Amino acid sequence: MTAPLFEVRAARKSYGERVALDGASLRVERGEMLAVLGPSGAGKTTLFRCLAGLAPLDAGAALLHGHDVAAMRGRQRRKIAVVFQQFNLVNRLSALDNVLAGRLGHVPAWRGWLRRFSRDDIRLALECLERVGLLDHANQRADALSGGQQQRVAIARALAQQPDLIIADEPVASLDPHIGAGVMALLASICHEGEGGIAVICSLHQPELARRYADRIVGLRQGGIVLDVAASACDEAALHQLYGSAAIPAAA
Ligand SMILES: Nc1ncnc2c1ncn2[C@@H]1O[C@H](COP(=O)(O)OP(=O)(O)OP(=O)(O)O)[C@@H](O)[C@H]1O
Ligand SMILES: [Mg+2]
Repeated sequence: MTAPLFEVRAARKSYGERVALDGASLRVERGEMLAVLGPSGAGKTTLFRCLAGLAPLDAGAALLHGHDVAAMRGRQRRKIAVVFQQFNLVNRLSALDNVLAGRLGHVPAWRGWLRRFSRDDIRLALECLERVGLLDHANQRADALSGGQQQRVAIARALAQQPDLIIADEPVASLDPHIGAGVMALLASICHEGEGGIAVICSLHQPELARRYADRIVGLRQGGIVLDVAASACDEAALHQLYGSAAIPAAA
């Protein structure tokens, strides 16, 4: 059996006495969009930080192509790209320069410091901006873009890393519902239309967006996976199991 693109095995993480991840396991395949749902404090951000190699697990492992993320450096590590709720762009730089930041690490350090990117890198960055519908805004400063546009630039920056996996922690939490849906549609199309078969793991607080755009939904509660179903099978009963009775307001 071949290894899945990405696998989390029995991930555990505590902050002092507080258990944030309590043996969570999941798998993601090429070209798959996985949504992670769960109440506040369930451990989603903790999980994502560990998956991206930004924080160590206490026990268990996150494996990309069967290799432990915690041990990855350089080129291997860049196969996992991260998209943040607050976009994390450099405000004073243009959209293009922000996307080129995704190529840092692919170029020798001195070229990065001097911002001397190759023609190929610039072409790739422009293609990534085109992919997210912002080629016309390449020279605009990041802080002159709307929130939705900034998140698209952040996704273009992630694409410029030529990743196998994009991890996005609440990528639409700062956006209005319409713009947020557009960003989810973009992430889904990156999974489904790209020849390379990029996978996306994305956390959300909106079950309806997860059901509309994800292939599979994983539910995290008190640090453990309590739900792992096809998005089409994620019904009200499954959401009730995840959030409990308080979290899903009844229709008026
Ligand atoms: N740096 C930290 N120090 C101490 N405790 C932490 C830290 N980060 C998270 N926690 C705790 O770990 C648990 C999981 O938090 P986490 O931020 O991962 O939840 P979450 O599912 O992302 O929540 P939300 O939906 O509100 O973003 C919570 O009990 C939280 O208080
Ligand atoms: Mg969080």
